[in-house]
Amino acid sequence: MSRYVVLHSAALLVAALSLIQAVKIEVHGKDNKTCIYAVLSVNFTVLYEGNGTMENATFQLPDSLSTNGSTCGGNSSAPLLNMGFGTGHSLSLNFSRTDGKFSGDVLTFTYNTSDAKLFPGAINQSMTCVKLVVVNSLMESVPLNTIYTCRSVKAIASEAVVMIFWHVGIQAFVVNGTISKNESFCKADVSTTVTPITTQASSTVAPIPTEPSPDLPAVGNYTIKNGSDPCLLANMGLQLNITNKDNQTHVININSSSTASGRCGDKHSVLVLEDTDATIWFHFFVEQAKFFLKEVKVNVTLLLNGSTTTFNCSNGSLKHWQAFVGSSYMCRNEQQLVVTDQLAINTFNVWVQPFDVKNGTFSRAEECLADSDLGFLVPIAVGAALGLLIILVIISYVIGRRRSQTGYQSV
Ligand SMILES: *[C@@H]1O[C@H](CO)[C@@H](O)[C@H](O)[C@H]1NC(C)=O
Ligand SMILES: *[C@@H]1O[C@H](CO)[C@@H](O)[C@H](O)[C@H]1NC(C)=O
Ligand SMILES: *[C@@H]1O[C@H](CO)[C@@H](O)[C@H](O)[C@H]1NC(C)=O
Ligand SMILES: *[C@@H]1O[C@H](CO)[C@@H](O)[C@H](O)[C@H]1NC(C)=O
Ligand SMILES: *[C@@H]1O[C@H](CO)[C@@H](O)[C@H](O)[C@H]1NC(C)=O
Ligand SMILES: *[C@@H]1O[C@H](CO)[C@@H](O)[C@H](O)[C@H]1NC(C)=O
Ligand SMILES: *[C@@H]1O[C@H](CO)[C@@H](O)[C@H](O)[C@H]1NC(C)=O
Ligand SMILES: *[C@@H]1O[C@H](CO)[C@@H](O)[C@H](O)[C@H]1NC(C)=O
Ligand SMILES: *[C@@H]1O[C@H](CO)[C@@H](O)[C@H](O)[C@H]1NC(C)=O
Ligand SMILES: *[C@@H]1O[C@H](CO)[C@@H](O)[C@H](O)[C@H]1NC(C)=O
Ligand SMILES: *[C@@H]1O[C@H](CO)[C@@H](O)[C@H](O)[C@H]1NC(C)=O
Ligand SMILES: *[C@@H]1O[C@H](CO)[C@@H](O)[C@H](O)[C@H]1NC(C)=O
Repeated sequence: MSRYVVLHSAALLVAALSLIQAVKIEVHGKDNKTCIYAVLSVNFTVLYEGNGTMENATFQLPDSLSTNGSTCGGNSSAPLLNMGFGTGHSLSLNFSRTDGKFSGDVLTFTYNTSDAKLFPGAINQSMTCVKLVVVNSLMESVPLNTIYTCRSVKAIASEAVVMIFWHVGIQAFVVNGTISKNESFCKADVSTTVTPITTQASSTVAPIPTEPSPDLPAVGNYTIKNGSDPCLLANMGLQLNITNKDNQTHVININSSSTASGRCGDKHSVLVLEDTDATIWFHFFVEQAKFFLKEVKVNVTLLLNGSTTTFNCSNGSLKHWQAFVGSSYMCRNEQQLVVTDQLAINTFNVWVQPFDVKNGTFSRAEECLADSDLGFLVPIAVGAALGLLIILVIISYVIGRRRSQTGYQSV
């Protein structure tokens, strides 16, 4: 009974999807069996250079498509769905599979402004191809042998191109040429009851607001062992502050239960923390009986404007968190470790000992200046010294002037 309902609704879905000006595409393998199946509707808006002005071309993905260039994939190549249309335009998506799931990998839109039908009055009529590449953004990963469906509107935008997808159904890695009857709904369809397309379209195209800063990160207690003996201890809360090309900042708290790994040595110790979207390396050195943090490497993956962007940042000439070997370094106050122009790490409640850990516990702590009660004395001392210097300069000026005046008088 329930099985019948599932089959029935899936059949209805496919029928419904194909009804609404959606384009249906099938890619066949050598045996003529379908290996990729897709129904979808796409509205494109492309900004291009017209005769002296910037113009917007708006068009829909047409019915008449060529699947030229598509492939079912093989042992070493990924399936590729290529939809060619008009004179030299194409939308393509390749697929990947892992752990019983498949997902869309790289979505590429290629257009050619020499097509006077879609781009009337475009300058530079000689073959202008522009490419837009967006990673992992059209479809989430879903179980193999199910059809991914998304009735909700999804906008994917870059500087010059806005693509609006809706009524999407996709299945790659189709087995035996049989399209699955089981749907995997996209998140947008599950979380919201499908709202009218028009209102959603305008809200999804709106610029993505800058994220509010998250709360302070939780302090994680990380231990690296040499055999069964702890040899590196680090308790700290970490927050990444990433500035992208458009000067937007993204603040991410590192999970306090991130996996810690690394190694200890006499002169070098390494701590690696792995969170779901970020990996951070801390490289500690010993010089002249003192240890310090010399190198930091960060790989972080962010979802920006619908596409995933990976930042790999490192700095190997730092000198932070210094203390004598045999003691630990502590800083309860917030500190900022600037790795590059793009990335800084805000640290909270740092307590580290990368060398000479005895009995699995921290040794005596050397505290950072900001923590100590004496910290406030430094600006006072500097101020006093400057004041004294100024007084000395004034006195010597006055004396010098007196001397030269008496000199003139004697002439
Ligand atoms: C594949 O299908 C087409 C038409 O759908 C047919 O002309 C062709 O002979 C078929 N090829 C094979 C190998 O079955
Ligand atoms: C797509 O474009 C067509 C015609 O330009 C328009 O009627 C439709 O509302 C658009 N759909 C979306 C979701 O923007
Ligand atoms: C561009 O516009 C100018 C004046 O508006 C016109 O004289 C010229 O012919 C146009 N060029 C093209 C290629 O349309
Ligand atoms: C083109 O469309 C975009 C987004 O829809 C809009 O922000 C922009 O102002 C339009 N530009 C022109 C020249 O119409
Ligand atoms: C497909 O590609 C081949 C060679 O790349 C070409 O000869 C053929 O005309 C193309 N077919 C279509 C429909 O574009
Ligand atoms: C793919 O791998 C299977 C077994 O793993 C093998 O039988 C087949 O020949 C391979 N195909 C290609 C094109 O390499
Ligand atoms: C999809 O294509 C892109 C480039 O077009 C490539 O970098 C990527 O590795 C491909 N994905 C898979 C799973 O092969
Ligand atoms: C595909 O076909 C083979 C034999 O033709 C069959 O054993 C297998 O169960 C089929 N798989 C699916 C998912 O239908
Ligand atoms: C982590 O260590 C701190 C001392 O630095 C301690 O107060 C805290 O309870 C520890 N947290 C956990 C979860 O063990
Ligand atoms: C993140 O970095 C930017 C630019 O360096 C700065 O303006 C902002 O205050 C920082 N935010 C946090 C929470 O550290
Ligand atoms: C960061 O990514 C680069 C390139 O993908 C890789 O070589 C490096 O090992 C990664 N570093 C970390 C800390 O994961
Ligand atoms: C190590 O800890 C154990 C019990 O926790 C204690 O008996 C021993 O004295 C400690 N050794 C040192 C060197 O602190």
